[in-house]
Amino acid sequence: MRHEIVEKNLGLMIVLIVFTISGGFLAEVVPLFFHQEVNEPVEGLEPLSALELEGRDIYIREGCHVCHTQQIRPFRAETERYGHYSVAGEFVYDRPFLWGSKRTGPDLARVGGRYSDAWQRQHLFDPRSVVPESNMPAFPWLFEDRVDHGSIEARMKTLQTLGVPYTDEQVASAAAEIEGKFEIEALVAYLQQLGTVISEKR
Ligand code: HEC
Repeated sequence: MRHEIVEKNLGLMIVLIVFTISGGFLAEVVPLFFHQEVNEPVEGLEPLSALELEGRDIYIREGCHVCHTQQIRPFRAETERYGHYSVAGEFVYDRPFLWGSKRTGPDLARVGGRYSDAWQRQHLFDPRSVVPESNMPAFPWLFEDRVDHGSIEARMKTLQTLGVPYTDEQVASAAAEIEGKFEIEALVAYLQQLGTVISEKR
C-alpha cells in the first residue's frame, strides 16, 4: 500500500530517489577523497616519461583497453596468474584510468618486463606469429608512423595542472626526447613499465 503511494506520486518518488543516491554517495564515495591510501602514490611511483606517455595515448587510440583490463583483483585465481593485486596508489597519475572491465585478452596491469621488447614488437606486428591461437588484431602501422611530438608539451602541461608532478624541465625537453621515434617504440616503452612499481611477481 505505502509503496503504491510512492509509485503514483512522481514528485515524491524523485525526492526519495535523490535522497537514496546522495546517501550512497556520501557513504561510499566521499570518504575516499580523504582516504590516504587512495590518494597517495605508492612508494617509488614516477609519472610516465614523455615516450611512455605517448605510448599510453597510442594504447588508448588503438583501443587496447577495449580488450585488456589493467586491474588485478585480489583473488587467488588472479594473483596466481598476473601477480600482486592492483592497489589504488599505483594509479594516482593515471588520467583517465584504463582499468577497463572486459577481458578479451589477459590483464596487462603487470605485463611490464614479462616479455622482451623484441617479443612485444613481434606480437604487435603479427600476434599469430608468436601466439598461434591468438585473435588479437595486428598493428603494423605502428612500425611506419612517427609519434606526434608537437602536442606533447601541451599534454604534459595539462597533466601538471591536474597534479601530476612533472618538472618544468621535463615538460620543456619532452618534444626533443621523442622526436623521430616510431609509435611502436612509444607503445612498447609504455607496456614495459606497466605495474613494475610493485615488484613482487610470481
Ligand atoms: C580484439 C581484442 C584485442 C585488442 C583490441 C588488443 N588485444 Fe592484446 N590480446 C588479445 C588476446 C585475445 C590476447 C591473448 C593471445 C595473445 O597473446 O595474442 C592478447 C594478448 C596481449 C598481450 C600479451 C599478454 C600476456 O600476458 O601474455 C599483450 C602485451 C597485448 N595483448 C597488448 C595489446 C596492445 C598493446 C593492444 C593495442 C595496440 C592490444 N593488445 C589490443 C586481444 C586483444
